[in-house]
Amino acid sequence: MGEDINEDPTHTGSGSANNTNTEENGETIEGVKYYTLEEIRLHSMSSDSWLIIHDKVYDITSFLEEHPGGEEVLLEQAGADATESFEDVGHSTDARELLLQYYIGELHMDDRKKENETDENVSNSGESSSSWMTWLIAAIAATVVGVMYRYYLSEHKSS
Ligand code: HEM
Repeated sequence: MGEDINEDPTHTGSGSANNTNTEENGETIEGVKYYTLEEIRLHSMSSDSWLIIHDKVYDITSFLEEHPGGEEVLLEQAGADATESFEDVGHSTDARELLLQYYIGELHMDDRKKENETDENVSNSGESSSSWMTWLIAAIAATVVGVMYRYYLSEHKSS
């Protein structure tokens, strides 16, 4: 609270290209506000708490006292990404619908990419090399089986 949040409805850029942090704060793109991790981190007090769940940003300040799981657990996650803990608890559909009331915007694309990119790079390079190896092994196995079968047939014929 008390943050100077820039609202720029004329800004229609993709939001993914080389923005500085000051530019990113509360940046509005086609009616949706994008917040950086840096800004979200500032909202980690009981008087002002934001959470990230599945790349969406929630202002849960007024929900803290109402949370059936207690205020404490929410405050532990305040200002950060609570996706994992939220999912670990196995929240009901009601809980997911409740979330909508507190929605204030989206996690900035730059901050999402950093997480996803590393994941993708790791899994993609891992996957592509492992699938390449799988095919190679399958091809060698098929060749060996084929050769053995031919050998077996020729042995059979001659005997
Ligand atoms: C703003 C986000 C959240 C909302 C709207 C929310 C809502 C709810 C609701 C409605 C319940 C009752 C059970 C259910 O319907 O699933 C619940 C239970 C619970 N929540 Fe959350 N929750 C949120 C975030 C979290 C987070 C981040 C944690 C982290 C650990 C958490 C931990 C729990 C626990 C432990 C319970 C179980 C309480 C019990 O059964 O005694 N919740 N939550």
